[in-house]
Amino acid sequence: MTTRIPSADDSNEFIQRAGGAPQPRAFPFRMLWLFMFFLVLGIGFFAFSVYLTRHFAFQGIRTQTRSKFRNCVDVIQSEVSLEQWIHPSQTTAHGMSDEELLWRASFVPQVKEYPFRRTPKIAFLFLTRGPLPLAPLWERFYRGYLGLYSIYIHTLPSYMANFSSESVFYGRQIPSQVSEWGQMSMCDAERRLLANALLDISNEWFVLLSESCIPLHNFSIVYKYLSKSRYSFIGSLDDPGPYGRGRYDHRMLPEVSIEQWRKGSQWFEVNRKLAITIVKDKTYYPKFEKFCKPHCYVDEHYFPTLLTIESSHLLANRSLTWVDWSRGGAHPATFGRSDVTEAFLKRILNGFTCSYNNYDSTICFLFGRKFSPSALEPLLRLAPDLLGFG
Ligand SMILES: *[C@@H]1O[C@H](CO)[C@@H](O)[C@H](O)[C@H]1NC(C)=O
Ligand SMILES: *[C@@H]1O[C@H](CO)[C@@H](O)[C@H](O)[C@H]1NC(C)=O
Ligand SMILES: *[C@@H]1O[C@H](CO)[C@@H](O)[C@H](O)[C@H]1NC(C)=O
Repeated sequence: MTTRIPSADDSNEFIQRAGGAPQPRAFPFRMLWLFMFFLVLGIGFFAFSVYLTRHFAFQGIRTQTRSKFRNCVDVIQSEVSLEQWIHPSQTTAHGMSDEELLWRASFVPQVKEYPFRRTPKIAFLFLTRGPLPLAPLWERFYRGYLGLYSIYIHTLPSYMANFSSESVFYGRQIPSQVSEWGQMSMCDAERRLLANALLDISNEWFVLLSESCIPLHNFSIVYKYLSKSRYSFIGSLDDPGPYGRGRYDHRMLPEVSIEQWRKGSQWFEVNRKLAITIVKDKTYYPKFEKFCKPHCYVDEHYFPTLLTIESSHLLANRSLTWVDWSRGGAHPATFGRSDVTEAFLKRILNGFTCSYNNYDSTICFLFGRKFSPSALEPLLRLAPDLLGFG
């Protein structure tokens, strides 16, 4: 339907004609105007009533919803904001199963630039049975660096940590499960730690530590070393002997060939990309779970092999955690009060050269193990002069 609206020319014509011409000729035009007036009025009224109906019907629904959920008005009123995606939860508690946690932790933003100021943090993952006897040394290590680190603690599920509310370790225990050395449950604990830490979008580097680990340098050196590195630090070695390739099982084919089989200490440092590679893996996990036992020590093989297959160009193939195997046997040496002297620490700090970003470096280790609780006293005493903090 098209209604022709008289143009300015038409109107002129109409006036001229109305002036000189007889009345009957002008009459239809007046009728037309009248008709158009009512037509426009009708359309307007129709539109207005449609608007009213919709508006009030919608208001009605909204009022209904409001009253229905009045009890959780806080939840409804807090609109989705960026804050809730980027601000880490104040507590490490959550009600997710491992399967749900790993799934949630595997989320990766596809836009590479962050729309907010992101200060990358180091996540320190403490894998322990219970207490952290060297905590006072770590407390001094972290002092002054709030906002550049986060801490996660995995213990036996029955253990209740008892840190004071001023401690950096306070409230940092994650929901844990029993894990045993050399078993898949140990890898599960490490993935659990990684996944919890991945929930904080600001965590960029992930360091696995035990209760017997100590920092060998101050925080600023550790932060610089990790943030400027082109590689992640995980021991990854193709050992032809019985404790290397000798533990490989051909039933792992085709996912894992013997050439891809790697061995390394479990004490790793990985960046966010590799941490996600570990938590999202569903390809290699079943093979290791099934064919790397009982004397295979899966925690020495699963991550080094997985990361070598997926991202070998990102690996430094060495660990940042110093440990002494020189005494022989199945376990590395443990150091107590009488071992920790100035000469001993200087030997660890100055006794090595290694490759860092393809250059030679004399800083090869950032952490050391295994230190017994009795080592705490001499470590606190020597740290300011030798370790650069405290
Ligand atoms: C926890 O620590 C406080 C002091 O730090 C102490 O008084 C309390 O007895 C401890 N509780 C347990 C269960 O060990
Ligand atoms: C680590 O080893 C892999 C092979 O397993 C190699 O591709 C990579 O270049 C090595 N990394 C460095 C820093 O040499
Ligand atoms: C960290 O240690 C290095 C070397 O020991 C030292 O030069 C530097 O001043 C220390 N940094 C801080 C902030 O203490």
